[in-house]
Amino acid sequence: MRTSFVLFLAGTLAAAFAMPALVRAAGPAGTADGDALKPVYVLTSTAQARLLPAPPKTLALRTDKVGRRLALIELKQHQVDELSAAIHDREDRCGGFFAFETRAEAERFLQVDQTAAVMAGKFSPLNDPLRIDNGDVVAPALAQVDAQHIANMIWMLSTSYPNRYFASVNGTNSALAIRDYWMGLAGGRSDVSSEMIGCATCGVQSSVVLTIRGTVWPDEIVVLGAHLDSISNVAYPDGERNAPGADDDASGIAVLSDVLRIAMENGWRPKRTVKFMGYAAEEVGLRGSRAIAQAHATEGRKVVGVLQLDMTNYKTGPIDMRLVTDFSSPVMQQYLVNLFDTYLAPLGHTRGTITCGYACSDHASWTQYGFPSAFMFEPGAGTTSLSDDFPYIHTPNDTLANMGYSTTPSLAFSRLGLAFMGELGDVRVPVAVTPPPMGK
Ligand code: BES
Ligand code: ZN
Repeated sequence: MRTSFVLFLAGTLAAAFAMPALVRAAGPAGTADGDALKPVYVLTSTAQARLLPAPPKTLALRTDKVGRRLALIELKQHQVDELSAAIHDREDRCGGFFAFETRAEAERFLQVDQTAAVMAGKFSPLNDPLRIDNGDVVAPALAQVDAQHIANMIWMLSTSYPNRYFASVNGTNSALAIRDYWMGLAGGRSDVSSEMIGCATCGVQSSVVLTIRGTVWPDEIVVLGAHLDSISNVAYPDGERNAPGADDDASGIAVLSDVLRIAMENGWRPKRTVKFMGYAAEEVGLRGSRAIAQAHATEGRKVVGVLQLDMTNYKTGPIDMRLVTDFSSPVMQQYLVNLFDTYLAPLGHTRGTITCGYACSDHASWTQYGFPSAFMFEPGAGTTSLSDDFPYIHTPNDTLANMGYSTTPSLAFSRLGLAFMGELGDVRVPVAVTPPPMGK
């Protein structure tokens, strides 16, 4: 179980809105979710609804796509805290419900949720999405991954923005810094652009999206993502410094930066559009990624694959990465395995698997909206148990120092990211044409 209160609902619901307990614990930004009497619309199991000290106002009873009985209840904001605490006390686990600003949003959430279908293998995005045949481009790039570059990015984020909470000043500024850094790597290329994407519940933080326009199939989108926010559940005198988030998830952003650097240095031109995404407000319920995935669905966009990188740098055991097996597409999971076996295994890397048991990161937002995503997670001790994980998650001790100032564990993820972009993006490198000698 996470050290924080977490909203999740084992079953098909894949994203959450409010995390009142975390918001309360997170110090200066604790007012972000508004006043205590604001109405909040909560989807929860009928059993959990009964844990509240006073019977809640039940608006409707619903059944989700796997037949689970849910109650749609109206609470005041402060009662959401009570529900979270009651679940934690009674069930000894984190959270288990989803909170929305309006009843309509809660109802829509149930209707659009595609998690069950995606996890059952539906929505294969392309006729032949799993081709791996671009070794000429990908293989040479794998040697260019750079631990120092990754360390610099983790250091910059975790020390210059040591609390990237979605409702904090550093939360805003760190997103701008990532945008500027990424655009600097792109060096003014005319096919590269960036956007800052806010959302109604993202506080003062925006997601960062850098887009490399596809040369042949620009409508087909490949996404490499990590979350840019951080959170702490430990009270600390200086709230702006209590969530360095070096592993969670400056490491993921740093790996994306390394992939982008190498792509740009090699003049990579993807045939499909490739988007690098730094998601806002993941730690408070996958809010930034949810808004982006929802927009892609509403606009009818064709997202052919999403790679999620959330925590890449903690390794104490023998293996190098673990594939997360739930809340994602089996098609994409298999694709990551195939990429790994083609490109990383020959370099001596090894892999395992792990199951979150709930919608633990931004891959789940894409899944919810019917897009094929998969999540590769850090190796930790190499077991299948979440309890063997990074001990400093969501604390002031999530620092590069506490990972021995080493970023070697992230190098394998940088290689995986290059393989994912190079193959699914179908990257080409323009060949320099030497003009024929001028004849006399
Ligand atoms: N990086 C974590 C997710 C994670 C932790 C995945 C350990 C696998 C193993 C992520 O940033 C996070 O903290 N997620 C929340 C859930 C979210 C819905 C708020 C969590 O797990 O508490
Ligand atoms: Zn994370």
